[in-house]
Parts: sequence; structure tokens; C-alpha cells
Amino acid sequence: MSPPAMPLAKFVQTLELLTEEAQNSFAQASDADQLDESRVEFLGAKKGRLKLIQKDLAGIENSEKPAAGKSLNATKQAIQQAFDEAKKRLLGDQDKVVRDPKFDATLPGTKFRMGKLHPITQTINELKDIMGRLGFTPAQGPEVEDDYHNFQALNIPMSHPARDPLDNFYLSVAGKHSGAVAAGEEDNPTLMRSQTSTVQIREMERIDPPIRMVSLGRVYRPDTADWSHYPMFHQIEGLMIDKSVTLADLKTVLKLFATSYLGDEVPIRIRPSFFPFTEPSVEADYYWDGKWVEFGGAGIVDPNVLKSVGYDPEKYSGFAFGLGIERLCMIRHQITDIRYLFTNDVRFLRQF
Ligand code: DAH
Repeated sequence: MSPPAMPLAKFVQTLELLTEEAQNSFAQASDADQLDESRVEFLGAKKGRLKLIQKDLAGIENSEKPAAGKSLNATKQAIQQAFDEAKKRLLGDQDKVVRDPKFDATLPGTKFRMGKLHPITQTINELKDIMGRLGFTPAQGPEVEDDYHNFQALNIPMSHPARDPLDNFYLSVAGKHSGAVAAGEEDNPTLMRSQTSTVQIREMERIDPPIRMVSLGRVYRPDTADWSHYPMFHQIEGLMIDKSVTLADLKTVLKLFATSYLGDEVPIRIRPSFFPFTEPSVEADYYWDGKWVEFGGAGIVDPNVLKSVGYDPEKYSGFAFGLGIERLCMIRHQITDIRYLFTNDVRFLRQF
């Protein structure tokens, strides 16, 4: 028995409809899995719809078979082409990329720009590293501090100008005349810490000597912003407490620190100064670009400070230093205005 007759016109029309359906289906696929489902539906080797229609070829008059075969081949090609295009759209022209001798599949992608750490964070990480190599362990303290840790324990007397409300961000108000102050806060108001020296106290309260700690973090002072000032900035604080620590040890550490950070053999000098929490106190400078640049303050920890944390000043001594991180970062990268660091314009930040 011969198979049921199939008019050529109907066969061709079925093929045209199938082409259109396949093209739509491939174009709509939104990922590789969907595309593969469509491929199986239309081009599947066993039950694909194109394969099924091919069977109708048998019912076509012999004289019309060549035309029908041609139409079938054209349909196959059109559907295959629609599939290839969809694949390229979803997966990229992988073959071409892989054949490219310059292509290295192990390199990171270029479509998305890599994120970067903020230059201050990069500087902090580097300084922490340098101090780590000198045996100083990182420590942290709160940014919201109390008067005791920010001033009293650091031997800063009540009358000292550093405590001026105009020079600090107090969060509660000291003094009996202030209104809503929690019990006990009259003598110990809270403030945003104005220096990282607070962490010296917190660390000495926490552990016994010997201590070699370094603390890097934000400090706050109500300064008007200009090229070298900002109401929030960062400091690095170092503290070493042991038996018979001297100014010579301090100078050695500062020298190694400056040389490690700035790269070359950098001369440093210390000048007499005054800080309530060190005795003697010094100001340290390093020589850079033809001039002496101030590094920060330092000195031998005042016996009163050691006493405030319960250390015996007859037994232990130590040095401390506190340096501004922004200045170190700006010198290294030739940044001329501190405000660039915190405006967070990514076109600026991306350079580092
Ligand atoms: N805390 C001081 C400041 O912010 C800097 C300083 C000076 C820190 C002397 C120290 C030090 O540890 O010993 O100006």
C-alpha cells in the first residue's frame, strides 16, 4: 500500500510554518538550557519536528519529490542558522575566541572592571604589614570613646586646651549644668575619639607587658576642611612596653618604618616637644623631596600613664608614637588635597 498522498503545496507550507516557529523559539531563548530545549524540539535527531515532517516526503508524487527535497533542505539550513545565531548571542563566538592564539582563558575577565580598595585602606594595610614585620600586633579600640580613655588616663588634665568642646565632637555634655546627662557621665562624657592614643590605654588595660601593638583607625576633630585638614582622618598609633625601652628603640622603629614605607634610605630626626602622655616627648620628621616633613608625635610613655593602667613604672618603660595616615598616603601618591580622598569620585580613586 502506498503512503497517503501529500500535496507539495501543503508540505512546503508546513515547512514554512515550522521555520517561523523555530526561529521565534531560538530568538526567545534567554539562556543555554532554554536554547537546548528548543534545539531538541526542532532539530532533534529522532523525534525532532523537522525529522517528523521529513517522513511526509514519502507521500509526495515522484515528479514533485525533487522540489520537495529542495524545500526541506532549505528549511533545515534556515533552522540551523537561526540556532547558530541564538547560540552566538547567548554564549559568544566561543570557537573563534578559543582559536585566537592571543586568547588566554586563565586571565581575569575584561567585561567588568575590578574593584579596588580605597587608597587609605591600601595604606593602612601596608603600614600594618610593615609594623607586623617589626613585631607589632594590630589592636583596635572604639571610635566612640569616653573622656577617661581619650584624656584622663593619658594624663591630660581637666584644664588642657585639647579638651575644649570646640576642638572635639562631644556626644554628651560634661558638667553639672547640662540637662539630659546619664548618671556618671558628668565626669566622663562620651566623644568621637580625637586620637588613637586611646587604644594605648585600652590595650594596657587588657594585657600585661611586654606589649608591642599598633592601632590604625579613624579619629575626629571639628576642623574646617582645607587641603590638609578634614574633620575625620586616620592615625597609626604604636606602643611598645617592656623592660628598659629607650628613645633609641623608638628612633630605630621610626627609622625602619619610614624607610620601609617610603622605599629609600630616608633620614629622620627627632625634635623636643610636649605631650601630656609622654616624657620626654618628641616630634619626628623625615627628609623627603628636599625638605623635612613632620611625621607625628612620639615619646617615652609618662609614668603617670603606666600607673593609670596599674603597671609599675619602676619595672616597665615604653615608647609610643602617633602619626597621621593621610599625610603618608598623600606623600607617596603625590595627592595635593586631602579632600580628594573623601569626595569618593571613582575617577580619582581608580588611579590607585
Ligand atoms: N595623639 C597625638 C595627637 O593626636 C599624637 C601622639 C603624640 C601620639 C605622642 C603618641 C605620642 O603616641 O607618644 O596629636
